[in-house]
Amino acid sequence: MSPPPVYFDHNATTSVGPEVLEAMLPFLMGNWGNPSSAYRFGHQLTETIDTARANVAALIHAEPRELIFTSCGTESINTAIHSALLSQPQKRHLVTTAVEHSATLKFCQQLEKRGFEITRLPVNPNGGLDLDLLEKSIRPETALVSVMFANNETGVIFPIAEIAMMCRSKGVLCHTDAVQAAGKIEIDVKQLGVEFLSLSGHKLHAPKGIGLLYVRRHTRFFPYIIGGGQERGRRGGTENVAYIAGFGRAAELAKERLPEMQARVRVLRNQLEAEILSRVPGTSRNGPDEPRLPNTSNIAFDEVEAEGILLLLDQAGICASSGSACTTGSLDPSHVLVAMGCSLERARASVRFSLGLATTEAEVNYLLGRLPTIVEKLRVNVPVSAGRLR
Ligand SMILES: Cc1ncc(COP(=O)(O)O)c(C=O)c1O
Repeated sequence: MSPPPVYFDHNATTSVGPEVLEAMLPFLMGNWGNPSSAYRFGHQLTETIDTARANVAALIHAEPRELIFTSCGTESINTAIHSALLSQPQKRHLVTTAVEHSATLKFCQQLEKRGFEITRLPVNPNGGLDLDLLEKSIRPETALVSVMFANNETGVIFPIAEIAMMCRSKGVLCHTDAVQAAGKIEIDVKQLGVEFLSLSGHKLHAPKGIGLLYVRRHTRFFPYIIGGGQERGRRGGTENVAYIAGFGRAAELAKERLPEMQARVRVLRNQLEAEILSRVPGTSRNGPDEPRLPNTSNIAFDEVEAEGILLLLDQAGICASSGSACTTGSLDPSHVLVAMGCSLERARASVRFSLGLATTEAEVNYLLGRLPTIVEKLRVNVPVSAGRLR
């Protein structure tokens, strides 16, 4: 196996932490029973699930009974939208934003084909929302407002508490995709006041394939995955005990290490960003300095294609990305940057660096040592004909 890369792509996914793996192993090897079984070998596992639920609940200040374990963030988001629509069959309009993850945008596209009306709110050049416009977009037939907490590409944070309050005053349900926010900024569902909130384990050092949907108490709920009576009848399917145990431990650690994310990681990110902007000519940040996740920096490099930068970084053992991982592989420019008014050239010339708790100063210095030469080399050898970018 090749050595682990110098990793600046924590918004795409994170490694499974050693303590997390340790929490999971007993349920993959020794105690692999089915929690629904009547005998102790299986039934004991309900305690493991309860402990994990309490730990994830503590991360977002929810009550354990308000949480439903799912297979991923995407399932949680789809489920929240599905439930909001089923609980109010007379309401056939949804409000969301143009910069959501495809889990929301593509689900909404499908709904549109089935006759639902979708309002996709635009963002300003800093990636921010116009709350007056949001308020005006809410109509009597609006079933749900679904707005992400923090953007995966730029790290821009939306004012969810204000949005939820607006929704509440108009009697409309509110969902937030908090997949990128968890473990990076404080999440308190009681302060936010949303009815639904989605999380994903693999963004905070749990494995890929485990997610969570928070459903505020007394909110009418209609399951999306129907089968057995697991999760108090709210999500069918035998529980993925090992992954749930891992998610619980990862949430516990994420809560403990939140101050480090907000201090040490933020300092490293700021240092990286400032150095790139000063050492590499023709660079600028996409999005505002604040309000922003402490780990994310999205930089446009004039007159060069991000694909080239990523390729040469990869050859130097460094991982970063352009756009979200789910759309990488296609040449489409990032829909988030385009929505912010970037030209197609600028969007194609932008790279996201996302740091994590594992990121060290030595890694930042290694990246800073390679990047200026890579950009210089590309500008000389592979010039972009379109000229200077916005
Ligand atoms: C903002 C956001 N929402 C949702 C998801 C989907 O989560 P999952 O990969 O667990 O389905 C992601 C993953 O990249 C994300 O960044």
